[in-house]
Amino acid sequence: MARTAGLFPASAVEVQPGAHHFPGYLSEIEQDALLADLRTIVANAPLFQPVMPRTGKPFSVRMTNCGRLGWVSDRSGYRYQATHPETGAPWPPLPDRLQRIWVDLVPGAPAPEAALINHYRSGARMGLHRDEDEDDKTVPVVSLSIGDAARFRVGGTKRGDPTRSVRLDSGDAFVLSGASRLAYHGIDRIYDGTSDRLSGGGRLNVTLRRVSVSE
Ligand code: SIN
Ligand code: FE2
Repeated sequence: MARTAGLFPASAVEVQPGAHHFPGYLSEIEQDALLADLRTIVANAPLFQPVMPRTGKPFSVRMTNCGRLGWVSDRSGYRYQATHPETGAPWPPLPDRLQRIWVDLVPGAPAPEAALINHYRSGARMGLHRDEDEDDKTVPVVSLSIGDAARFRVGGTKRGDPTRSVRLDSGDAFVLSGASRLAYHGIDRIYDGTSDRLSGGGRLNVTLRRVSVSE
């Protein structure tokens, strides 16, 4: 990890109040170590194809989770649940590495309970949405990107609010906290061929979330 102390170091860019971009947060060695962790998780909890509530339209990303809880979407809605929707097994544990990153980026926050892993192939995107399925909507969401770069869009807490775009490269971290915790955000596009970190191309994004209200 590039940083060692302080809440938001000089290397962080505050793109709007509460929205912090950490370019190059993970070194190449740290990215590969995280990738090894993610491969083990995917081997045990395979990527699945979520569909939109009601319409059943498939997402263009595939996803899986680790941690006590995982985020899923199907015809009956969005929610966190303790088991994989296809295998029925509990999600794999949240690796120590992700716990350390969480403590480094959001010191003092209650421990993360879920890590959603999104896999974007060429052409995949993620429409503008808010992360609002957590019971505790005050704890920051931490995002880590590995592989091809992406155009990330972040706006305000209302759908029509102005947005800005940020390029997220392999190794970047992004934190949505405070006034931006419930900001609309999404991925407009993947920049194919911009990283050789993933052998098959594409992009992995991990978002760490606290779901329940801590005692
Ligand atoms: C998400 O909002 O769940 C994913 C964001 C990203 O892929 O950077
Ligand atoms: Fe999100």
